[in-house]
Amino acid sequence: MTEQKATNITWHEHHVSHEERCRLKGHRGVVLWFTGLSGCGKSTIANTVDHKLHAMGKHTYVLDGDNIRHGLNKNLGFSPEDRKENIRRIGEVAKLFCDAGLITMTAFISPYREDRDAVRKLLKDGQFIEIYVKASLETCESRDPKGLYKKARAGEIKGFTGIDAPYEPPLNPEIVLDSDNLGVDELADQVIAYLDRHGYLNLPEDVEAPAMSGS
Ligand code: ADX
Repeated sequence: MTEQKATNITWHEHHVSHEERCRLKGHRGVVLWFTGLSGCGKSTIANTVDHKLHAMGKHTYVLDGDNIRHGLNKNLGFSPEDRKENIRRIGEVAKLFCDAGLITMTAFISPYREDRDAVRKLLKDGQFIEIYVKASLETCESRDPKGLYKKARAGEIKGFTGIDAPYEPPLNPEIVLDSDNLGVDELADQVIAYLDRHGYLNLPEDVEAPAMSGS
C-alpha cells in the first residue's frame, strides 16, 4: 500500500456524474489495459484501436509506456519497485480518464499480475478490460523495433523483461490477442468487436446508463 502523506484533505464529489458524462458522449468510459512483452504490439494495436474509434466519433486516449516515462514517470526506472509505482500511477491516471468518460487505452508491459490486479480493483466492475497481447519471446525478439533485445542479450541492459526479468501473463484476461499470427488491423478489430458486443460503444443519450456494481 502506498502511504497517504497528506493530512487535512477532503474528497469532493463532482457535480457532473460519471454516468452523465458517458451519456453525453454516447458511450461508456472504460480502461483497455494492454499488457505484454516489449515488442508484442501493445502500443501499435492500442493506437490503431484509438484511430478507428476516433473515426467512429468516440472519445478516446492512449497512455503509452515510453511516452509517460518521458514525463509523469520520468523519475522511475525498471526495478520491480519502480515498475510497481509506474503501474500504480498509470492506474490512477487511467481511472481519472475513465471517470471523465473516455475510452482509455494503456500500453505498458505491466509485467506483474499483482500490479495489474491492483488497477482492476481501483475501477468498477466492467470498467477494466485486460487485454493480453500474446506474442512469443521469439516473435518479439525478431521484431526488436528499438534494438533493445539485442542490447539485453549483449548484457548492455540489465533486468530486461523476458530476458532477465519476469513477465507474468494474465490468468483471466477479458481479451487475448494472437500477435504471433494476426496483423494489427485484425487485432484492433477484435478489440472493437468486443466493446461493441458488450455494449460499451452505444449509450443512447436519453437512456439511463446501466448501473455498474463494485466499489
Ligand atoms: S513496465 O514494466 O514498467 O510496465 P513500461 O511499459 O513502462 O514497462 O516500459 C517499457 C518500455 O521501456 C519498453 O518497451 C522498452 O522500450 C523500454 N525499456 C527500457 N528498459 C527496459 C527494461 N529493463 N525492461 C523492459 N523494458 C525496458
